[in-house]
Amino acid sequence: MTLEALQSTYADWRTTFNKRMEQTLTPQGDIPEALLEAMRYAVMGGGKRLRPLLIQASCLAVGGHVTDALPAALAVEMIHSYSLIHDDLPSMDDDALRRGRPTTHVVYGEALAILAGDALHSFAFETLARASLPAKRIQALTATLARAAGPGGMAGGQVLDMLAEGEPASEESVSQIHRLKTGALLAASHRLGAEAGGAAPESADFFEKVGHKVGLAFQIQDDILDETATTEQMGKTVGKDQASAKATWPAVVGLEESARRAKTLTQEALEDLELYGDAAELLRGLVRLAVERTS
Ligand code: IPE
Ligand code: IPE
Ligand code: MG
Ligand code: MG
Ligand code: MG
Repeated sequence: MTLEALQSTYADWRTTFNKRMEQTLTPQGDIPEALLEAMRYAVMGGGKRLRPLLIQASCLAVGGHVTDALPAALAVEMIHSYSLIHDDLPSMDDDALRRGRPTTHVVYGEALAILAGDALHSFAFETLARASLPAKRIQALTATLARAAGPGGMAGGQVLDMLAEGEPASEESVSQIHRLKTGALLAASHRLGAEAGGAAPESADFFEKVGHKVGLAFQIQDDILDETATTEQMGKTVGKDQASAKATWPAVVGLEESARRAKTLTQEALEDLELYGDAAELLRGLVRLAVERTS
């Protein structure tokens, strides 16, 4: 497949995904209008949609149908968006710009932003639980997502990130922070795709392991871009990591070595995925994009 063909498939998947998200986040039941508006603002305002695409491509790689991956894709993007709302709060990274727009708390106030994050967290699991998939598959998906988002995953990683601010960092400590705060959801995205496609537990383990390499490479690139890209390019304020004395890869090993490390990890992930041959072509394309990205 040419790069253009890959890009056009991703664009189609993004369009379908955004439509489904739009339909999922509509007025229903007792949801207060103000809450739904803040949730929609955080979720529908752009974003690369990398995690949903990874889930769909992983599902395809194990021989599944991409539509079976959609409930997990919606759920992960809701969790991711909630994590961004909370990450940007004044008590956390204190950021005013996200996805090229004012952050949710800047527009709706802190209290509603916190609650929109809480609501998205629960709504993600409701969406997954209601999926038209075999009950056993839903159970596996739910356990995977809960583990990745929870205390031993993203939430735990955000705590480590916070505790490491201003402290001396090492490769080991930064690896652990990145493995949890970002790696867990990205690794889970690979695993969720495999599980949605009906893969055996051993294959799901394999996808998660590959996903951890991709996740680490992705966050290293995020750290690099914070030092080398522009705010316009990123849609979020750059240069914040150094200013807040964050534990990042460039801070520990420098920019050049960070880039080398991200490239090596990506290469390893791509080689691992050769095992799935042509079926994993779209997934390999995304793995490359995760690190070669400039936004
Ligand atoms: C940003 O994630 C937060 C990190 C884990 C580095 P993305 O770079 O995937 O953000 P969006 O979804 O495209 O805005
Ligand atoms: C955030 O990491 C990881 C999350 C769980 C949201 P960062 O704090 O580096 O993400 P950005 O740079 O604000 O997107
Ligand atoms: Mg942060
Ligand atoms: Mg941040
Ligand atoms: Mg960052």
